[in-house]
Amino acid sequence: MAADKIRVLIVDDIAETRENVRKLLQFEVDVEVVGTARTGKEGIQLAQEMNPDVVLMDINMPDIDGITATENIRRNSPHIQVVILSVQGDQNYMRRAMLAGARDFLTKPPMGDELISAIKRAGEMAHTEREKGAKQQMVMSAAVGASPMGGFMPSTHGKIIVVYSPKGGTGCTTIAVNLAIALHNEDTRTVLIDGNLQFGDVAIFVNEQGKNTVLDIAPRVDDLDSEIVDEILIKHEASGIRILAAPQRPEMAEKISAEQFMKVLQFMQRMYSYVVVDTSCILTDVILSAIDLSDVVVLVTTQEIPAIKNSRLILDLLNTMGISKDRIVFAMNRFDKRIAITPERVSDNLKHELTAVIPLDEKIAITAVNRGIPFMLDNKSQPIGKGIFALAEAVRARIIALDGENEASTARR
Ligand SMILES: Nc1ncnc2c1ncn2[C@@H]1O[C@H](COP(=O)(O)OP(=O)(O)OP(=O)(O)O)[C@@H](O)[C@H]1O
Ligand SMILES: [Mg+2]
Repeated sequence: MAADKIRVLIVDDIAETRENVRKLLQFEVDVEVVGTARTGKEGIQLAQEMNPDVVLMDINMPDIDGITATENIRRNSPHIQVVILSVQGDQNYMRRAMLAGARDFLTKPPMGDELISAIKRAGEMAHTEREKGAKQQMVMSAAVGASPMGGFMPSTHGKIIVVYSPKGGTGCTTIAVNLAIALHNEDTRTVLIDGNLQFGDVAIFVNEQGKNTVLDIAPRVDDLDSEIVDEILIKHEASGIRILAAPQRPEMAEKISAEQFMKVLQFMQRMYSYVVVDTSCILTDVILSAIDLSDVVVLVTTQEIPAIKNSRLILDLLNTMGISKDRIVFAMNRFDKRIAITPERVSDNLKHELTAVIPLDEKIAITAVNRGIPFMLDNKSQPIGKGIFALAEAVRARIIALDGENEASTARR
């Protein structure tokens, strides 16, 4: 469909690169190069004028560099997706690019099919984002079939839920493990993935260490079938969930690229209703791309000022990355009512409602870890277990609401 063509803007100071990229794209019927710019400044200006779907962006350029230009474009037009093209294979650039809101990162010279598939992925995302924007404008006037939540057909695609805390030790893994168990049932099968590739401890939390890990899947991610994956995943008999553990040793983490990890998540989405990802507080490329790909981010804080301060920073960053507020379920863990910093105060302060509060219970939480038996199995009726149930409900409700929005916008088209 002509209307669905992906409109591309090329920003690069070297004429030869602009020409090569243009040539690579000229035979793609659904891709159209709508303009080229030679500097970051020109790129920002043209992005505003041409309103492309995808910007292919160089990093080193006269006047404004590609990362700053990306940030600027994403701030002004969040639906425009940026793919960075750079000679630097340097991981630091990749991280900075992702933080600036870039969708993808390719090294120069890009291979034809690599470039085209990156553009198509980004283009699809741009179209979805545009629709969302249009929908928000129409939602006031259109009397959409406002059936109660759940009246919409849920999408058949599994949902990715990333559990993240910008402060170590706040209980991210505790929440990821117990949330996965709470979400799992026969109709909504759930897999738990350890995204803390260096020091992941999900396997220990369920006493299943020493088995297969993500290293058994990631390297052959382009060549998987569900039977192989089913063989490799750890089956946690007591709860029924499946688990993909982190590598056995920290130095093995770097064997897994962000791209491989993303593909693993996408594969899991086809097999499971919920894909829960545990993370580390350090924002690795792997974790950034998981967040980027996720449907919902469970952001974990505590009542401690450093955790709250970091939550503020991460809320800003998620905003820059184009993660809308309604994709974030904010949760407080280790809640102790004797401490004056209440969930309400934190919500007010960060202007983001705390949707779930999980009480402090060291006896239950620590015993659970040490025995390798998650408390959602044997202590789910205790307040800490009820807190997790409430969180699981909030996540489910959020997913249904987000699905409903997408359904409504598709229906209107
Ligand atoms: N609600 C809670 N009440 C009491 N203790 C808790 C609670 N949640 C987690 N804990 C305890 O806090 C410690 C840290 O938890 P956990 O490992 O889940 O944190 P984390 O954020 O994943 O840490 P890391 O940054 O190391 O990955 C554990 O001993 C855990 O048992
Ligand atoms: Mg952890």
